[in-house]
Amino acid sequence: MRFLRYPGSKRKFLSTLVEHFPSKESIKGKYIEPFVGGGSVYLAFEPKQALLADINTDLIDLYRGIKSYPHKVWEIFSTFPKGKRSYYLVRNSEYHTKPIYYRAARILYLNRTCFKGMWRHGVDGNFNVGYGGEDRRWVIDHQNIIELSRALKNSAIINSDFESVLENVKDNDFIFLDPPYKPGLKEMKDAHYAYGKFTYEDQIRLSEALKRIGNKKIKWLMTNSDHKSIRRLYKDYEIDKLKVGTSHRIGISTLRPKEIIIKNY
Ligand SMILES: C[S@@+](CC[C@H](N)C(=O)[O-])C[C@H]1O[C@@H](n2cnc3c(N)ncnc32)[C@H](O)[C@@H]1O
Repeated sequence: MRFLRYPGSKRKFLSTLVEHFPSKESIKGKYIEPFVGGGSVYLAFEPKQALLADINTDLIDLYRGIKSYPHKVWEIFSTFPKGKRSYYLVRNSEYHTKPIYYRAARILYLNRTCFKGMWRHGVDGNFNVGYGGEDRRWVIDHQNIIELSRALKNSAIINSDFESVLENVKDNDFIFLDPPYKPGLKEMKDAHYAYGKFTYEDQIRLSEALKRIGNKKIKWLMTNSDHKSIRRLYKDYEIDKLKVGTSHRIGISTLRPKEIIIKNY
C-alpha cells in the first residue's frame, strides 16, 4: 500500500532490499527505522513490533493521527474542497493548535495535491510547496487509511533526530537506516526533504553513532549513496551494491550503481 508521495522512497528496491534483512522470526527485539519517511520498507516488511522515527514533524503527526483516528482523518481529508484556492487556504491557515487528526488530514491533503509530492519547509518551519492538482488525491481511499492504522498498531512513532533514537536501542533490535543521500544528489539540491540539508557532518555523526552501538547483539543495515566519502566512513563493514528489481523483466534484478547497502552482520 502506498499512501504517501515521498521523495527517496525505497519502493522500487523492496524485494531486493528485504532479502538482506534478518528473517522476521529471528528479530527478538524491535524493528527500528530512524529515517522512516514514506514508510515503504516498514509496510512491506511488517515487523511484529517497531519504533519509527523521523525529524519531519508533519510526517510524524500524519502517522500518529492515522494510527489513532483513521476515520476522523479520512473524514476531514475528504471534506477539504478541491482546487488551488482551497489548497493555499488550508496550507496557510493556522494548524498547530488543532487536534492531531486535523493536522494529519491536512498534511495528507497537502501531500496528495502539492506539486510533485515534494516536502519542503520554509524558514518558519511551515510546509511551503505550491499547488500541483487533484490528479493524485483520490488514489487512496478510506480502506487504505484503516489498513494503515492497523499496520501501525504495534509501533511507537516519534519525532526525533536519529542520534537519540540510536542511543536507546537495545540488544536484539534490528535497525534499518535510510538517511537522505549525500548532498549533491538531486533530492538534496532541490531541498526535497524537510528541515534543510543532511550534510556530510550528519553522515559522520551517523557513522559515529553506529560505531558506538558496536554490539554484536544489535544488527543494523543502511542504504546510502555509493560515494567514496561514504565508503570511507564504513570501511570496516560489509558493503554491497543495491539492486533494483525491474518491472518489465519480472524476477530479474539489475545493479543500481549509485546506491549501496552497508551492514554490521
Ligand atoms: C530517504 S528518506 C527515507 C525514505 C523511506 N525509506 C521511504 O521509503 O519512503 C530520509 C528521511 O530522513 C529524514 N531525516 C532527515 N534528517 C534527519 C535526522 N537528522 N534525523 C532523523 N530523520 C531525518 C527525512 O525527513 C526523510 O524522511
